[in-house]
Amino acid sequence: MKKNISVLPGDGIGPEIIQEAVKVLDAVAKAYDHEFDYTYADMGAIAIDKTGSPLPEATLKASLESDAVLFGAIGDPKYDNDPNAKVRPEQGLLAIRKALGLFCNIRPVKTFDALLHQSPLKEARVKGTDFEMYRELTGGIYFGEKKLSDDKNTASDLCQYTKAEIERIAHKAFAAARKRRNVLTLVDKANVLESSRLWRRVVTAMHQEIYSDVELRYLFVDNAAMQMILAPNQFDVMLTSNLFGDIISDEGSVIGGSIGLLPSASVGETHALFEPIHGSFPQGAGKGIANPIAMILSAAMMLTHFDMDKEATAVRAAVDLALAKGVCTPEVFPENNYATSDVGDFIANNIA
Ligand code: IPM
Ligand code: MN
Repeated sequence: MKKNISVLPGDGIGPEIIQEAVKVLDAVAKAYDHEFDYTYADMGAIAIDKTGSPLPEATLKASLESDAVLFGAIGDPKYDNDPNAKVRPEQGLLAIRKALGLFCNIRPVKTFDALLHQSPLKEARVKGTDFEMYRELTGGIYFGEKKLSDDKNTASDLCQYTKAEIERIAHKAFAAARKRRNVLTLVDKANVLESSRLWRRVVTAMHQEIYSDVELRYLFVDNAAMQMILAPNQFDVMLTSNLFGDIISDEGSVIGGSIGLLPSASVGETHALFEPIHGSFPQGAGKGIANPIAMILSAAMMLTHFDMDKEATAVRAAVDLALAKGVCTPEVFPENNYATSDVGDFIANNIA
């Protein structure tokens, strides 16, 4: 198969980890006789430096025309502590999500047996954790009207959802639950927020009308944050809004021991983008210490999206082997001395 992939390395460690993902994809192309054509483009702080815009026209055009987008990381400390900055790198990511219609962000939270000892939680609690978070990605408080009063003393962000926005992601989450252990947990704040009560009404109606074979549970987001620490292995598929999903997916990402391990897929009706859930780790950039596994597993999710299931399985197996053999960056195996590119080499060389 031939696929055009738009590659956006982004900021910080983005370029280093994406290089390893491309290395692994090249190994897949060779082993399975595919052709992957890459179009590189800038997004984020690097794009602001070069063009003034965090999402230049050329990047958006290449992404709209590609079969999928592979994205590294975004963010630069020079913007983080400046609330008055007019342009911010993150605007690039938000704009591409909106422009490509990527309303559904899927974040699998899975522990690796070889790394249980690495978890900040007790091994017995963590063992067997394997759930998927479905985070709404193009609506809610991220995209609602923003206001700052003339005297700059009052500000607000509107959290708005429509029935249609909730239904389209809920369909995907129910369908995912059916393919897994058949349990869907809706995470919201329906005891306080009107928008959350809309989520409950819409999802409950869909459950009654179409998906009554799936077990539907409800959890307030504060309780969900606690349950993810107490017993993360109780979850199968979680469904939640944009901001809640942002927050609890970072919480989920460390359960397995390193934020450098978890990939994500952002999909819509026509486009898809794949990125690790971690940030740009600017302190680690250029040192060869960035863990490329979340990025490589994001590429594996892209292969699944292309219906290349054998290929995706081969990548995941090579990642499992790397972790079992202790081939990973220092935050996971401090004593083993493997650099970012060593980890990518090992995984690429073990694509069967
Ligand atoms: C994420 C990130 C983004 C978000 C930022 C970089 C805009 O934290 O993908 O989780 O908040 O969605
Ligand atoms: Mn986030």
